[in-house]
Amino acid sequence: MLVNLAPDLRRDLRIRAAEHGLNMQDAAASAISLWLDTPNAPEADVQGAKSWGVFLPVGLPGRFIDACEERHITKVQGMAQAIKVWLDAYPSPDQRLTEQPVQRILVGNQKGGVGKTFVSSGIAQACAEAGKRVLLVDYDPQGHLSSRLQIEGIPEGGESLLRHMTGKAEKHIARSLVALPHDRFGGRLHVLPADEDAFLMDADLAVMQIGRDRALINALAPIEQDYDVIVLDGPPNLGLAMDLAIHYVQRRPGELIERSGILIPVWSDKSSFKAYGLLSRQIDTVEKRTGAVVDQLGFVVNAYDSRKGTVMRAFYEGWQELTTPGTLATLKDAVEGREASDYEVPLLDYAPDSQHAEVMRALAKELTA
Ligand SMILES: Nc1ncnc2c1ncn2[C@@H]1O[C@H](COP(=O)(O)OP(=O)(O)O)[C@@H](O)[C@H]1O
Ligand SMILES: [Mg+2]
Repeated sequence: MLVNLAPDLRRDLRIRAAEHGLNMQDAAASAISLWLDTPNAPEADVQGAKSWGVFLPVGLPGRFIDACEERHITKVQGMAQAIKVWLDAYPSPDQRLTEQPVQRILVGNQKGGVGKTFVSSGIAQACAEAGKRVLLVDYDPQGHLSSRLQIEGIPEGGESLLRHMTGKAEKHIARSLVALPHDRFGGRLHVLPADEDAFLMDADLAVMQIGRDRALINALAPIEQDYDVIVLDGPPNLGLAMDLAIHYVQRRPGELIERSGILIPVWSDKSSFKAYGLLSRQIDTVEKRTGAVVDQLGFVVNAYDSRKGTVMRAFYEGWQELTTPGTLATLKDAVEGREASDYEVPLLDYAPDSQHAEVMRALAKELTA
């Protein structure tokens, strides 16, 4: 069922559901059932509601729609009421959650040009601007992320991520990092630049005899405690390096569900659905082989332009209807994004008031809430 829901409510629902060990779909179903049994639910604020696809058990959508009609309210109002009622009925567990590990987000999709680099950089910037300590890892051998931030590779005295992953590095990995100088990031945004040797990553990993699955975990472990969030800009293929990145963002013991995981930029076109099918399969394969649980955090539908006609609109709606995961944000095709990349200036510094920047901030807020 497609309903509209304010982002704040959606976020509260996601967090509260996780605190109770539920996924969002189950929490939404529970909320609607509760609301059906609550004849005079208080009116709720529906400002800024955005489309949200939710998968409900058979029969529930019908009963919900009937009840909305009986109560003379819109579906939007009904859904907002249901979630409010549920949030009141299921408060945060008193026992604050045990300390969480560093949050790890892989921005991944083997399809090239869908906006992985744009989105990973944008959310990392937004997180840092909001006060988080962020590590942004350029995990694509092409190094676009680094060059768009005017970073010329690993700094003097540092060694490549691949050397750290294969156990060849001699220096601490902290020496490989570059801090972005812009005031707005307050020195909190660090980049691990790509090195050309990353083109050999799959080959080097393939001959690694022991500890391959943990190569990325081991490489980043010495600096994890210095960060609140680690964002990886994924590679444009589904090779071994991608396997390790998927493995790296797996849910750790005691970690909230849908906190770390994969964020998937997509386009509104047919090949994006195909690409997602392949990516999904690879995630399944890594899970089966290693026993890891890897959360898909959601889609970012990128470069959307409704003026581009009905086909694009139909695919756009297709993404909106997917629910596990769902669409977290839509980025329009806008000039600021391209210019920021071309001029090699971080988006939030180049166009801080642009819609792109606002979407990145909202997305970062939702992901790290
Ligand atoms: N929403 C957007 N509006 C305008 N330009 C965009 C948008 N998203 C990405 N771009 C630009 O499109 C190009 C490809 O995006 P990029 O993030 O490099 O994709 P990927 O990393 O998936 O290959 C870049 O030049 C980027 O700045
Ligand atoms: Mg890229």
